[in-house]
Amino acid sequence: MEAFCMQYVQFFFVLGTSSWTLAQPLHCEVGRTLSLEEDPGKTFNWTSDKVESCVSGTFCQETLLLIKAARTKTAVLATKSCVPEGPEAMTFVQYTSPPGVIAISYSNYCNNILCNNRTSISQFWRPLETPVSSLSATLRCPTCVALGSCPSAPSQPCPNGTVQCYQGRIELTGGGIDSSVEVKGCTTTTGCRLMARISTIGPMSVKEFCTYQPFLQPRKAENKAPWLLASLWMLELLPLLLLPLTHLP
Ligand SMILES: *[C@@H]1O[C@H](CO)[C@@H](O)[C@H](O)[C@H]1NC(C)=O
Ligand SMILES: *[C@@H]1O[C@H](CO)[C@@H](O)[C@H](O)[C@H]1NC(C)=O
Ligand SMILES: *[C@@H]1O[C@H](CO)[C@@H](O)[C@H](O)[C@H]1NC(C)=O
Repeated sequence: MEAFCMQYVQFFFVLGTSSWTLAQPLHCEVGRTLSLEEDPGKTFNWTSDKVESCVSGTFCQETLLLIKAARTKTAVLATKSCVPEGPEAMTFVQYTSPPGVIAISYSNYCNNILCNNRTSISQFWRPLETPVSSLSATLRCPTCVALGSCPSAPSQPCPNGTVQCYQGRIELTGGGIDSSVEVKGCTTTTGCRLMARISTIGPMSVKEFCTYQPFLQPRKAENKAPWLLASLWMLELLPLLLLPLTHLP
């Protein structure tokens, strides 16, 4: 039972056609970014000018995690490097359904020279702010996203459809990243499942620690079905990247 209690999780895998090049050593871009961005779809430049020759690695990887709450900046944790193991795959995961706090990851493992060369995330990061008309008049949560800890967490009205105030810390280690992100806000997730109990994202391992509390308002009976949903789709690259995170008109 527990294994299926994953929050709203969407996996998209795109399996490339393998083109093994056994003879030559692999070169990969290498880099690491931890930042808070106003609008990373427009401004995040993932170009790395450093190149690594993979000693024992057989794959290049580029992986990032994006976390945003309503009206906060977006935490961007990104890594590029050689990695020893595959498989060759592009994975896109949306851990929570909007509105409220959103977390998504993108990870690409590939084995051609400098193939981890994505420069922009505009194709898959276009969250929309909830219009004022679909904000609750009465339900509010402390809201913030920060690398390390939040200096403050102003109370913000919750979008209709969210079910609780989430307050947690996501710890990431591996791939040159050793960092934590504090997250507070209204969410559609129940319990401590912002990251849907996923334990790795590319080369990073993920731990989630949180407390949560109901809204201060009594809620109508909770709908239990949606959080049992876990979906798996095999998609082509193009349609995948054309899928924006737009759920509202
Ligand atoms: C991204 O940064 C690189 C240098 O690090 C620069 O050459 C490139 O023009 C930048 N791209 C954009 C779109 O700003
Ligand atoms: C970026 O990666 C793609 C996919 O492997 C490759 O075809 C392309 O040549 C790479 N671009 C550069 C500048 O290395
Ligand atoms: C969202 O909540 C507001 C305020 O409570 C309400 O007026 C509005 O009708 C709700 N919208 C939807 C789509 O439920």
